[in-house]
Amino acid sequence: MVCTRVACICNAARVCGEYSHVPHDATSSPVIDIRGVTKVYYKPDGSIMAQALHGIDVAIRRGEYVAIMGSSGSGKSTLMNVLGCLDRPTAGDYFLDGKNVAKMGDEELSRYRGQTIGFIFQAFNLIPELTIEANVEVPLFYQGVPPAQRRERSLECLKLVQLDHRIGHRPRELSGGQMQRVAIARALVTKPVLLLADEPTGNLDTTTGQAILEVFDQLHQQGMTIAMVTHDPTVSERCERVVRLKDGVVETDVSRVRAMPA
Ligand SMILES: Nc1ncnc2c1ncn2[C@@H]1O[C@H](COP(=O)(O)OP(=O)(O)O)[C@@H](O)[C@H]1O
Ligand SMILES: [Mg+2]
Repeated sequence: MVCTRVACICNAARVCGEYSHVPHDATSSPVIDIRGVTKVYYKPDGSIMAQALHGIDVAIRRGEYVAIMGSSGSGKSTLMNVLGCLDRPTAGDYFLDGKNVAKMGDEELSRYRGQTIGFIFQAFNLIPELTIEANVEVPLFYQGVPPAQRRERSLECLKLVQLDHRIGHRPRELSGGQMQRVAIARALVTKPVLLLADEPTGNLDTTTGQAILEVFDQLHQQGMTIAMVTHDPTVSERCERVVRLKDGVVETDVSRVRAMPA
């Protein structure tokens, strides 16, 4: 099937599936725009260990909520690490909020990543010795934000994830769901344009996971751009678009929200 919508994210090379496409705003530049991205892992002797990504093109527009799926070994984590600027592609370009990060030096990239992306990990990655409000402040500390402003913004974000009543506590005194809320607050504290989440409900029971997904739903409704790796179809059903990887290429890229008839 060939998609003929001018402003659609799909192109003729992608499978459009049974769904109609959401009309996208062709005038706003994508938050994520990767072109021909490959990733090769090398052995110490310089020979190829694995080629994880084989020339991927994906554009994610402002306000989209995208699930990244695929079987184990398909390249999801590698792609997420590239999107999160935690790793560099072997080849290809990555325009993050309009700037080509593939061409940035390490220091500039690290600063730009901190301003642009909030990253949420499956294992929360909180610092056990710090209170939850201090944990949320960490990204602002690295940005040189003064202490009073850091604390104010941290408390705002903890309120947003309904954890203001747990201020003063350390991560070990919280449930898994609460710890993930702290991690979400930490991801939001820098006011990023993009939230990336790698299996954010993977360590949580179903009920707690659903509550965390409701937080993502709310953020999406407020206009946040979200890309989330997940194995779980009940998670991806909440997203409006599913990008499925297979053997390091995009196998399908399907919008799940029905569009108004043209
Ligand atoms: N650090 C690494 N060094 C070598 N090979 C890797 C590394 N990370 C991933 N790979 C390989 O790249 C491919 C994709 O892996 P990955 O991105 O982790 O997939 P997924 O997250 O979908 O399970 C696999 O063949 C994997 O073995
Ligand atoms: Mg993985």
